[in-house]
Order: sequence, then C-alpha cells, then structure tokens
Amino acid sequence: MHLDIRQAQALQEYLQAKGWPKENEPIFSLEIPGNGNRNCTLRVRTHDRTLIVKQAQPYVEKYPQISAPSERAVIEAHFYGKIQEFASIQNFMPALIGVYEKEYILVLEDLGTSSDYTFLYQPQQKLSINEAESLAHFLAMLHQLTWKETLDGTFTNRAMRVLNHEHISIFPFLENNGFDLIMRRLLGLAQLPLSFR
Ligand SMILES: Nc1ncnc2c1ncn2[C@@H]1O[C@H](COP(=O)(O)OP(=O)(O)OP(=O)(O)O)[C@@H](O)[C@H]1O
Ligand SMILES: [Mg+2]
Repeated sequence: MHLDIRQAQALQEYLQAKGWPKENEPIFSLEIPGNGNRNCTLRVRTHDRTLIVKQAQPYVEKYPQISAPSERAVIEAHFYGKIQEFASIQNFMPALIGVYEKEYILVLEDLGTSSDYTFLYQPQQKLSINEAESLAHFLAMLHQLTWKETLDGTFTNRAMRVLNHEHISIFPFLENNGFDLIMRRLLGLAQLPLSFR
C-alpha cells in the first residue's frame, strides 16, 4: 500500500482490511494536514471523525532522490506507544491508534490544525512566552524519564543518525555543495536543505 492523496479508495480498502474504518464509514476526503518533510502524512476525513495517517517510504518525501530508512516509522510508533503510559506527557502528543509495520504506516489521533513551527525560521517570527514555557515543560518531563527502552536499543535508529549527520554536519560545510543556504534563509525557505526534524 502506497499512501497517496489521490487514492482514497485504495486507502479505505487497506484500512478496512485492518478493521478500520467501519463498513459504513467511507473515507470522505484526504487532505494535507500541514507542512511535512520526510513522510507522507494525510488527514483522513470520514463522516464522523478525522484521523492522521502517516507513511514512511524508503526515501524522503520532499526530496525523493534521498534514501531514508523506512524503519523510522516503526521507531516513532514505539515512542508514541511508550508515551501512552505517561498521561502528563501524552497530553501533549497524539494518541497512537494503529501501527502497520509491514507498510510503515502509523494512524494517529488528529490534533486539529497545527504547525510544525518552521515559520520560526522567517525574520521577526518568535515563539510566544506561553509556547516557550509549554515546550520547556514538555521537554523537562520527557528528560526526567528513564526507560529501559532508551538503553536496550528499542529507540535506536543508527541509519537515521547517519543520515542526519551527513545532512546537518557534513554537506552544509562542503564547498560547492550546491545548496544556496543564505538565499534559502532570506527567502524564508526554512530548513537547511535536508535537515530532518
Ligand atoms: N496528529 C496530528 N494531528 C494534526 N496534525 C498533524 C498530526 N501529525 C502531523 N500533523 C500535521 O502534518 C504535518 C506533517 O506531519 P509530520 O511532521 O508528523 O510529518 P513529517 O514532517 O513528514 O515527518 P517528520 O516530522 O517525522 O520528519 C505536521 O507538520 C502537522 O502540521
Ligand atoms: Mg515534520
């Protein structure tokens, strides 16, 4: 199954085979919920509800010429699953509704219209004090947790680390790397070309 905004019927059949949506709950529309980067992330709307479906292809959605390990979806799901034990942190995050490891698909609670905050790269844009406080609070809570999973490799994604290292710490510093970093910033194009967040 290849998640595709033009293929609502195929997604419906796929999800129905997994027991969702219910038989009389056809998918009404597929939408792009917000600015994405590595994955294909869609809002699925039925008559009664909306959900987020996210798939990791073996490449970066925005730059398909760049390979990226699909396992990232499974590791992201482990993280969401683990967080569900901690109500105070879970409140800040979408609930994990389903994970289909073979196709690297996650189904998540829809948090409604939101932003990935890449607008902060544009001139004059700032986090509000309230947002900064919430973020610090969330990070502090997360930081205080010690899980066996952080030690036993459940969350380890070496291939993703290697990729991030190349694109954040190596490519931008190569001469003639073909990236117009200054122009991208001035144009408000947000991220360094391939920095993954
Ligand atoms: N659970 C959700 N509820 C509402 N909107 C969401 C949810 N998950 C994602 N979105 C929206 O979809 C956009 C893309 O999703 P997301 O950031 O998870 O994917 P990505 O950028 O492709 O992958 P990643 O950030 O893991 O590299 C987000 O910026 C946000 O606007
Ligand atoms: Mg994102």
